Amino acid sequence: MLERCLEALAIVPDTWVVDATFGAGGHTRALLARGARVLAIDQDPRSSEHVEALRTDLGRAGVADPAERFRFVGGNFRDLAHLVHDAGLDDVRGVLLDLGVSSMQLDEGERGFAFRHDGPLDMRMAASGPSAADLVREASVEELAAWLHRYGEERHSRRIARAIVAARDAAPIVTTARLKEVVQAAYPPGPRRDHPARRTFQALRLVVNDELGALEAALAATAEVLVPGGRLVVLAYHSLEDRIVKRAFRDRADLRPLQKRPLEATEAEVEANPRARSAKLRAAEKVEASA
Ligand SMILES: C[S@@+](CC[C@H](N)C(=O)[O-])C[C@H]1O[C@@H](n2cnc3c(N)ncnc32)[C@H](O)[C@@H]1O
Repeated sequence: MLERCLEALAIVPDTWVVDATFGAGGHTRALLARGARVLAIDQDPRSSEHVEALRTDLGRAGVADPAERFRFVGGNFRDLAHLVHDAGLDDVRGVLLDLGVSSMQLDEGERGFAFRHDGPLDMRMAASGPSAADLVREASVEELAAWLHRYGEERHSRRIARAIVAARDAAPIVTTARLKEVVQAAYPPGPRRDHPARRTFQALRLVVNDELGALEAALAATAEVLVPGGRLVVLAYHSLEDRIVKRAFRDRADLRPLQKRPLEATEAEVEANPRARSAKLRAAEKVEASA
């Protein structure tokens, strides 16, 4: 997918691209290698170690004036227009959104994103705001059920919501292992395609980080910052994200979609990176709204 992202961005050397989901910097490094200048954004404070590593590598490679090739700002991509403006850029030719959590975040048990690792029930990408444990402690059955239904597309949302509230009355739910146990016990028996807790964890993560709200705001802001002819490339990992991107590309007069259907990973790409299995790539070009 990396190659296809780069292709869709149609990089013009020495022009600015915003990598709004820096993560560990894999895409940014590839963009720099193609000659782009990169303004990178991430809301996770732990991105800073990868930023430092990249700066060190640029220094070692003898890049003259590295700040003219690579800049990083910590923040939420919902504020993309402000972040780009504050960085003094008015000629952005590309924006990349590689959505969701990074494998780094998923693999760190203490971040609380994954039901496969025990840790505090946190799920915050940024360092502030209510954690998943806070939501699980305070939400009503109705709120929990609505989140699980809307953001987890969970068929058994009410049943799980009731089980969560009953379990927290017995003892607070503050770890991923306990939440997983509660959901598993509430789940009706029978064949299933994935782990019973997967949808509940997805729903809570989306709520904790307001991921869909941030995506909608970022799509609008992107159209604002791109120069005409500039490209927006979005990698989405579940249908709720992809639907928002698809609708924005369909409804916005200033974004012209480059494909009818999203691009998906090839078997070889999935083998190399299993997360790519659910990836959907959509790209659009900025056009004048009146065009
Ligand atoms: C899938 S990872 C990106 C991986 C990256 N492309 C790389 O090559 O390493 C998504 C990243 O986006 C960040 N992120 C998600 N939502 C964000 C938001 N609303 N604002 C800023 N960063 C966000 C996450 O913290 C995470 O580091």
